[in-house]
Amino acid sequence: MSVTRRYREAWEGFWREAPGEAGEVFWDADPRVTAALHLAYFEPHLTDAELALVDLGCGNGTQTRYLADRFPRVLGVDLAAAALDHARHADPAGLAAYRLLDAAEKGAAETLHAELGDANVYMRGVLHQCEPADRQPLVDAIAALVGTRGRAFLVEPSEAAGLVLGALAQSPDGPPPKLAPILRHGIAPGDVADDAVPEYLRTAGLTILSYGELPLTTTEFTPDGTRIKLPSQWFVATRAM
Ligand SMILES: C[S@@+](CC[C@H](N)C(=O)[O-])C[C@H]1O[C@@H](n2cnc3c(N)ncnc32)[C@H](O)[C@@H]1O
Repeated sequence: MSVTRRYREAWEGFWREAPGEAGEVFWDADPRVTAALHLAYFEPHLTDAELALVDLGCGNGTQTRYLADRFPRVLGVDLAAAALDHARHADPAGLAAYRLLDAAEKGAAETLHAELGDANVYMRGVLHQCEPADRQPLVDAIAALVGTRGRAFLVEPSEAAGLVLGALAQSPDGPPPKLAPILRHGIAPGDVADDAVPEYLRTAGLTILSYGELPLTTTEFTPDGTRIKLPSQWFVATRAM
């Protein structure tokens, strides 16, 4: 049984209060500096781009819509109904489909896999902002969704990002405006150890095909006007080996 109830409430509260305009949420950067960079590393590993693509923990769907422009069948899933309200509102043409799903819930990913078949999976910034006990179940969900033909792209702020965020949270003038709501809602970011992520993947039966580091561009600036970028690590994984 998933232990995400507290997190679900935190996320619901966060997304209910989040502004709908682009770029108002801390991590909600333009896909041209986000998913586009990830696809450059993900696409060469896809064996079948016609498979459904699941954006796991899609939030307000900014990256999902970008993915839906490039892949024929995209499904954004999220724990928070309020996140999906934003995602649907921002996608009046219905480029992607959206669904409420706690991916850490036992059997949820298997049920979705039975419906979609093997799927490609994109997951950005979910593990470091969920209940620690849900991290392995979330990665197990990726393994269930990809089956033998799908591939997964996973990107998470790295350990060093936690230090950057901690310093911002403690700054004498208070945290930057877009970081403040995250802290207020108790969605503590950034305490996944760098070594833990490949370990979750291996435990889930996934093989890492490729990995690397990239700056995670945020929508926030330091007082001197520098855009805040967090270090992040990414992985492409498969079950088919
Ligand atoms: C930091 S946000 C990232 C959103 C999006 N991936 C992006 O890059 O803009 C993390 C999202 O993961 C969702 N999430 C957390 N735990 C989840 C779970 N167990 N199942 C599905 N979604 C989850 C949260 O509701 C939240 O919208």
